[in-house]
Amino acid sequence: MFTKRVIFPGSFDPLTNGHVDIVGRALSVFGEVVVAVLNNPSKTPLFSAEERVALIQEHFQEDSRVRIETFSGLLVDFVRENKSNIILRGLRAISDFDYEAQMALMNRTLDPSVETFFLTAREENSYVSSSLVKQVAPFGGDVSKLVPAVVGRALQEKFGRSR
Ligand code: PNS
Repeated sequence: MFTKRVIFPGSFDPLTNGHVDIVGRALSVFGEVVVAVLNNPSKTPLFSAEERVALIQEHFQEDSRVRIETFSGLLVDFVRENKSNIILRGLRAISDFDYEAQMALMNRTLDPSVETFFLTAREENSYVSSSLVKQVAPFGGDVSKLVPAVVGRALQEKFGRSR
């Protein structure tokens, strides 16, 4: 039985199949995944923090091992407040590595007791990103293979086209 709690932070604007894949993989190693949705008032997201949380909650409603929270400020503070010392991030391609390594090292500098774990998504999700979804969905492009059904419906409502 796995008991460790891991924090999976991100913008999740919106949740993609890549994120879902990483959560699923993490649950084969960790006991609980806390999805930490960044609420950054200086950015204008496509979905508000409340909408993002609601979509993630709806997708994972059957799984009591997944908890969804918002956070602002420093991630390491949120990790400590939630009684964890593990940050989980997904790596898609080598191009992700620079940014991810910078964040991991910065977080380690801020709190040496916090470790960052990386997991890779399935191949078919390796190119999927929230940014790509946001580039395609407004123009009616089919994103149904890239996002969970609940997010697909929310995008449809937002942009009012069939996809
Ligand atoms: O999904 P994203 O946008 O790549 O996630 C980035 C996120 C939310 C993990 C990162 O921006 C973050 O942790 N922000 C909180 C501020 C912080 O603690 N920064 C220090 C680490 S660089």
